[in-house]
Amino acid sequence: MTALTLTLTNQKGGTGKTNCAVQLAAAAVRIGRRVLFVDADPQGSGTAALASEGLDEDAPGLANALSNQDPETTLPDVIVPGVWAGLDLVPTTGGGLGIVRDELVVAPLARERRLRDALAPVLERYDLIVIDTGPSLDQLTINALVASDVAVAVSVADYFSSRGLVQLLDTITTVQQHYAPQLTFAGVIVNRYDARTKQAAHWLAQLREAADAQGFAVLEPIVPARTAIADATANGVALHESPRAKDLADLFAQHLETITEGAFK
Ligand SMILES: Nc1ncnc2c1ncn2[C@@H]1O[C@H](COP(=O)(O)OP(=O)(O)O)[C@@H](O)[C@H]1O
Ligand SMILES: [Mg+2]
Repeated sequence: MTALTLTLTNQKGGTGKTNCAVQLAAAAVRIGRRVLFVDADPQGSGTAALASEGLDEDAPGLANALSNQDPETTLPDVIVPGVWAGLDLVPTTGGGLGIVRDELVVAPLARERRLRDALAPVLERYDLIVIDTGPSLDQLTINALVASDVAVAVSVADYFSSRGLVQLLDTITTVQQHYAPQLTFAGVIVNRYDARTKQAAHWLAQLREAADAQGFAVLEPIVPARTAIADATANGVALHESPRAKDLADLFAQHLETITEGAFK
């Protein structure tokens, strides 16, 4: 048994990457999977939601596991328990991961593979590894893709998001060709969808057209805009445990099923 590794990505901020990463992790632990959440966003919002205890700004985290400045510390050394039984976390706090991102830019060798290599020793311990990325197609996001079996884009239905997806798909294709032949693109989760607005319906239709034309999937179901979802995620509450969002838990159960095709490795 080795973990299936999944990256949630979009170079645009605020589309719901962290929200979807957290709730997919919740859906997986709910069905008894052992899950590792890797916070590859220097802003650390996934860590804020999912760490079972408050972590100091300078707590060891992903930055230490990736940096050549700290060769003693490996990824297993920085894993902490998450808020749910069955969930572990590679945390990100403080400014360290931003510094490591800059270090990677100038690293001469194998910089794209750092996270992949760092995760290798823990693959057998988990069924699913979920990597949350920042709003950028930088070396950290490329490291996340190279380390992954599956990439999922998280988008909202608006003009800029539809355009940004083209660039994201290019990056994923380039990473596949040069560094990660194992990587597949599962498609786009449309998040924070407000069915009451005409614009949203318009841009969702555009997104579906683009998906057809370019041969990628818009993953069903569409995730609605609901403050109950935002509140649950911000507080590290799984939707199925949230009195106001219980009815929405199945959304992410279905996404998890589609993305993993029901078959964890
Ligand atoms: N389905 C949703 N409904 C309502 N608010 C949401 C939803 N998903 C995310 N949000 C809110 O939108 C903001 C951006 O979401 P977040 O997951 O942090 O995006 P990203 O990680 O892509 O930057 C956050 O304030 C979050 O609480
Ligand atoms: Mg985020």
